[in-house]
Amino acid sequence: MRTIRFVAPIITFVATIIVAAGLSACSGNNAPKYKIGVTQCSGGEWRDKVNDEMRREMLFHDDAILEIRTANDNNETQSADIDYFINNGFDLIIVAPNEAEGMTPAVERAYKKGIPVIIFDRRILGDSFTTYIDLDNKGIGLSVSEYVHSLLGDGKVNVLEITGLPGSTPAQERHAGFVEGLAAYPNINLLESVAGDWEFDRAYQVLDSMLDLYPDIDLIYAHNDFMALGVDSLLRERGRRDIKVLGTDASPGQGLEAIRDGRIDASFIYPTEGHRIIDTAFKILQGDSVAKVVTVPTLSSVDKSNAEILLRQNELLKDETSKVLLLDEINATLQNRHNTLSHFLNAVVALAIVLLVVLILVLFLFFKNRKLQKELKEQNQRLIEERDKQIGLYRQLDAVLTKEDEFYNKFMAIIKSDYADATINTDSLAQHFNIGGAQLTRKIKALTNFTPVEILRNYRLEQARHLLLTTDKNINEITFEVGFSSAPYLTKCFREHFGLTPTDLRSQK
Ligand code: FRU
Repeated sequence: MRTIRFVAPIITFVATIIVAAGLSACSGNNAPKYKIGVTQCSGGEWRDKVNDEMRREMLFHDDAILEIRTANDNNETQSADIDYFINNGFDLIIVAPNEAEGMTPAVERAYKKGIPVIIFDRRILGDSFTTYIDLDNKGIGLSVSEYVHSLLGDGKVNVLEITGLPGSTPAQERHAGFVEGLAAYPNINLLESVAGDWEFDRAYQVLDSMLDLYPDIDLIYAHNDFMALGVDSLLRERGRRDIKVLGTDASPGQGLEAIRDGRIDASFIYPTEGHRIIDTAFKILQGDSVAKVVTVPTLSSVDKSNAEILLRQNELLKDETSKVLLLDEINATLQNRHNTLSHFLNAVVALAIVLLVVLILVLFLFFKNRKLQKELKEQNQRLIEERDKQIGLYRQLDAVLTKEDEFYNKFMAIIKSDYADATINTDSLAQHFNIGGAQLTRKIKALTNFTPVEILRNYRLEQARHLLLTTDKNINEITFEVGFSSAPYLTKCFREHFGLTPTDLRSQK
C-alpha cells in the first residue's frame, strides 16, 4: 500500500514528462499568427510581378502566411474566393476587384464581418473597405494624352482608344484622364473609345472593324499591353504599322520586351507596389491607423529609349531576388534543422528524466527489498536461536530426568531388597547415596511427593497384603517378614492404608 502511494505520483510525473515532450515535439507546427488572403481578379505579367513583390515582402514576416488566389476575370469566382477567406479564419483580405459593381457585395460581406480589407488597383462601389491603394489610373490617362501630343505634334491627328473592361474602375479612370488631357490639344481628334476588356483577342477583334471604319488612324491607345499586343498583331497583318501603338503596364516579361522589339511604341508604368500592400496589411493587423485612400504617384512612360535599361534593371532585381529567396531557403533549412535538433534534444532530456525516475524507482524498490530481506534474516536468526535454546533446555531436562530416574530406580531397588529389615531408616537408606537423610527425604519427596519412610511403609504394606492373599502365614509371621516391628502397628497402618484390617482381608480370601 505504501509502495503504491509512492509509485503513483512517480508514474504520473513520468507520464506528464512524456506528454510534455510529445507536445513540444509537435509544437514545430505552430499555427501562424496571421493569415492573409489575396484575391487577384486575373493573371498576367503585371499581377505576377505584384504577387512576387508581396511574397518577397512576406519574407520579413515569418509569423504570417499569404495565400494568393486568381479569379480569371470572373466576378463569381472572385466572390467565392473572398467567402473562402471569410470562412477559413483569414485575418485580412487583399482584393483587386474584377468589376466594381459585381464585386461590391462580397467585399462588403468580409468588411462587415470585421475582417480588414485592402482594395488595390481597382475600386468597388461605396466605402466598405479599410483602405484603398489607388494606383492613379486617371494620372496615367493624363500622362498618355501628353505623350500623344509630344509624339504626334500640333498637326491634325486621329486617335482611337481601346479601353479595359468597362465595369472596372481603371478602364473608367484611364479613359477619364485621357479625355481630360486631350481637351488641352484640340488638334488631337479622339475618333472613338471602344471596349477591349483588357484582353488581347478582344482588342484584336474590335480593331478589325474599326480599321475599316477609320482608315486614317494615327495612333491607338490600348489601356494595357495585352491589348496593345493584340492591336500590333492585327496592324502587322494588315500592313498598317504606320499607326503608333501605346499601351499601359510596361511589365517585364511582356510590355518592356514588346517596346524593345518594336511591337509597341510606348507604354506607361502601372506601379506594382506589392511591398506597399503587404506593409499596409501589417500596419492594419498591428492596429496602426491607415488612410482610407492612398494614391501612388504615376511613374514615367517607357519607349525604346529606356526599355532596355529598365529590362536590365529588372534582370538585376530578379537576380537579387533569387539570391534573397535562396538565403531564405537556406534560413528555412537551418531553422528546420534547428527545430529538429531541439525536438531531439527535448526528447533526449525527457528520456533522461524518465530513465532517472525509473532508476530512482528501481533503487527504491531494491533498497526496500534489501531491508525486508535483512529483517527476514534477523527474524529467522532469532527463531533459530530460540529453537536452539529450547533444544538445549530439553536436553538439560532430559539429563535431569534421566539422572532422577536412575536415582529413583536405585532407591526403589534398595527398598525392594531391604524392606524386610526392620532396622532400616532414612539415614541408613541415605548412606547408599552418600548423602544425608534430610537430603534424601527432600529429593525423594520432590520426585514422588512421598518421604522415603512413607514409600518404605507403603511397599511393606503392599507385600503384607500380597502375603495375606497368597499364603496361609499368620499375621505375626507376615509382620516380621515385611519388616514391621509389631503386629498391632502393622494392623493400624494397614487399616489406614487399605481401609480394612489384615484379619478382614484374610477373612475375604
Ligand atoms: C491586369 C490588368 C492590367 C491593367 C490592370 C488594370 O489584370 O489588366 O493589365 O493595367 O489589370 O486593373
